[in-house]
Amino acid sequence: MHTHSLLYIIFCTLGVSAEFYVIDDRIGLGREFDGIGGLSGGGATSRLLVNYEEPYRSQILDFLFKPNFGASLHILKVEIGGDAQTTDGTEPSHMHSKDDVDFYRGYEWWLMKEAKKRNPYIKLIGLPWAFPGWVGQQTQWPYFFPNITANYVVSWIIGAKQHHNLDIDYVGIWNEKEYDATYIKVLRDTLDQNGLTDVGIIAADGDWGISKAMAQDPYLNDAIEVIGVHYPGTNTVKEALWTEKKLWSSEDYSTFNDDIGAGCWARILNQNYLNGRMTSTISWNLIASYYEDLSFGGDGLMTAEQPWSGHYVVESPIWITAHTTQFAQPGWFYLQTVGNLTQGGSYVALTDRRGNLTIVIETMTHDHSQCIRPPLPQFDVSPQTVTFQLKGSFAHVTELQVWYSKLDFETKNATLFQQRGPVKVYNGFFTLKLDVDEVYTITTVITGNRGFYKEPPKSSPFPKNYSDDFKIDNPPFSEAPYFADQTGVFEYFRNVTDKGLHAFTLRQVITEQPVTWARDADQTISIIGDYNWTDLNVSCDVLIETPNTGGVFLAARVDQGGESVRQAKGVFYWLYSNGTFKVTNDISGHRVLAEGLSGTKAGIWYTLTLSVKGYFASGMLNGYPLWKNAVVLEPKRGWAALGTYSFEYAQFDNFNVNAD
Ligand SMILES: *[C@@H]1O[C@H](CO)[C@@H](O)[C@H](O)[C@H]1NC(C)=O
Ligand SMILES: *[C@@H]1O[C@H](CO)[C@@H](O)[C@H](O)[C@H]1NC(C)=O
Ligand SMILES: *[C@@H]1O[C@H](CO)[C@@H](O)[C@H](O)[C@H]1NC(C)=O
Ligand SMILES: *[C@@H]1O[C@H](CO)[C@@H](O)[C@H](O)[C@H]1NC(C)=O
Ligand SMILES: *[C@@H]1O[C@H](CO)[C@@H](O)[C@H](O)[C@H]1NC(C)=O
Ligand SMILES: *[C@@H]1O[C@H](CO)[C@@H](O)[C@H](O)[C@H]1NC(C)=O
Ligand SMILES: *[C@@H]1O[C@H](CO)[C@@H](O)[C@H](O)[C@H]1NC(C)=O
Ligand SMILES: *[C@@H]1O[C@H](CO)[C@@H](O)[C@H](O)[C@H]1NC(C)=O
Ligand SMILES: *[C@@H]1O[C@H](CO)[C@@H](O)[C@H](O)[C@H]1NC(C)=O
Repeated sequence: MHTHSLLYIIFCTLGVSAEFYVIDDRIGLGREFDGIGGLSGGGATSRLLVNYEEPYRSQILDFLFKPNFGASLHILKVEIGGDAQTTDGTEPSHMHSKDDVDFYRGYEWWLMKEAKKRNPYIKLIGLPWAFPGWVGQQTQWPYFFPNITANYVVSWIIGAKQHHNLDIDYVGIWNEKEYDATYIKVLRDTLDQNGLTDVGIIAADGDWGISKAMAQDPYLNDAIEVIGVHYPGTNTVKEALWTEKKLWSSEDYSTFNDDIGAGCWARILNQNYLNGRMTSTISWNLIASYYEDLSFGGDGLMTAEQPWSGHYVVESPIWITAHTTQFAQPGWFYLQTVGNLTQGGSYVALTDRRGNLTIVIETMTHDHSQCIRPPLPQFDVSPQTVTFQLKGSFAHVTELQVWYSKLDFETKNATLFQQRGPVKVYNGFFTLKLDVDEVYTITTVITGNRGFYKEPPKSSPFPKNYSDDFKIDNPPFSEAPYFADQTGVFEYFRNVTDKGLHAFTLRQVITEQPVTWARDADQTISIIGDYNWTDLNVSCDVLIETPNTGGVFLAARVDQGGESVRQAKGVFYWLYSNGTFKVTNDISGHRVLAEGLSGTKAGIWYTLTLSVKGYFASGMLNGYPLWKNAVVLEPKRGWAALGTYSFEYAQFDNFNVNAD
């Protein structure tokens, strides 16, 4: 007390605003810390990552997952692919139909294994956004038969173990959609019956509403291990606190990953606990590894959207994450002594209960409305001097490590995750001068480390000439490089009875509408290339498999995908199995630019060629002109694409594009 008053007098005399903050574990601890995570999926957000060449791909994975290197994430959450568009693409299901099962589709299995390789303690979460049509019995309602959906989800968890030796720690319900209490209980029973008693249910990846239902339904309450909410704006509700369950922000951030995004992330990480008692926060998304012109381009903790060049960027949110993840682990506890700083900003403190202490301080000023979601509490921040007093187990600490970041929203000249000389603690006291837009970690932990690789290759656009004959034995992934499915699923296909030219192809394999999450198109489509492409020639061999009513297309200047794929415009050259062709300005086929007879039918391979130059497009069939000079006023640019008329099987081979 005496020392307090003395220091206070000194500071006041100097005209510096100074404030005391006590860090003490004798009054009891706060909640258990469950870790910081990243979300791959919802959807297809890591699509381009898998196609990076080594060593770049491993370097990127190190920045995300390797302990004491970069973001050092504690949790990896992935989408359980449901064959439907879930924001930036579709992710394939392990069961396209009820008799089909394959645990080697997509890239989430691979990503989980890479994460585990680097950090065996990383927690894994699976969550469905969409479901194959058969799961919902063609109703768009996945709870029609709760047992079918539960068996489907549990089969994913069992397959993860059997085929990839991955232990899934938590599973969710249906991302940001309605939950069904009966389904949650059936899911719990199904997990238990399969010996998966350790797999916890997170519910319901929406708002706090479920906590009220839990208060009224003890069986529902028992079934749920974690209340997971999205974009809580750092706040919780009293009903959630009353459940005494773990509270998580199971999806958060969703902001462009520049310094402004990093500032939002710094606030969220501290304040989700401070204001909302949430003990885990998961970033949507893990890594911006999808074509930038899709929905929410450039979100994520870092950027890797150019596998063709090897270029990637370790963005500032990686280092903001490190401020917490490298100095506190799941199983540590928050202290009760956490709070706001009087001149703005916040601090949290955590301990391993064995003498280690980590304090994370943030003083972010920037306009909170820039955090796309959620709107965070607003308050002014100004420079301040703070004095911490360590008590209880920490009273005898004499020195603390210091890690420092400062964001600069104007010059964009940030200092990120820099180790500074240790701070001396005198009789339990230490003082810091805080400026605005800073993050400090003050800690007993000495293993902090800023990982480093030499600069990756320079950024370069997608190659102007690109081709793929899909001829590959045992492909490492089910999807061909750079093709990003936006409705339907396009997989490598091996026709073992075909001894001729088309034994290896790319095949669209979804034959009924899934239980969707976003507004998938009625057609299937996979995009590729550069959004800035204007004039180009694209050709592809195509095989319509459905007689009479089937069809396929090849397209250029496709201007939209993701959640707005239904509105995609471009130049779409369609070939049908009823002997006709069409050229349309949109994927939905309403704006017809040309049409006529083609003599085409199912079961025969054709070569389609589409040329677009300025305001004109023309098309060939098997090398002969079929139509020409169709007038294309807009769009001016976009990706190349291929796809089908409906949810139907069809194959593609010898894809080739030349752009100007
Ligand atoms: C699911 O439950 C329904 C009736 O509720 C039953 O008819 C069906 O056989 C069950 N299916 C499975 C896969 O258990
Ligand atoms: C911290 O300050 C913000 C902004 O004034 C406020 O909304 C929040 O309730 C405060 N939190 C605590 C734990 O005092
Ligand atoms: C802190 O953590 C380290 C490693 O995690 C451990 O070796 C040490 O005993 C802990 N306690 C203190 C007081 O540093
Ligand atoms: C960026 O900041 C560093 C110190 O943090 C300083 O040395 C450098 O001059 C700054 N550069 C610019 C362009 O402001
Ligand atoms: C691309 O292909 C076109 C024609 O196929 C050829 O004329 C051109 O030289 C190629 N460009 C590059 C960069 O390889
Ligand atoms: C596989 O190839 C055989 C022989 O060319 C052909 O008859 C059959 O239709 C092909 N199957 C598929 C699914 O394309
Ligand atoms: C397209 O061009 C614009 C400038 O015209 C550029 O800012 C953008 O990064 C380019 N997009 C791609 C995918 O290269
Ligand atoms: C041919 O098939 C397509 C797709 O099923 C359909 O849109 C079109 O109307 C058909 N044309 C004729 C002439 O039957
Ligand atoms: C497209 O093909 C036409 C005709 O063969 C050719 O004149 C043109 O240069 C090609 N354009 C590109 C971008 O390769």
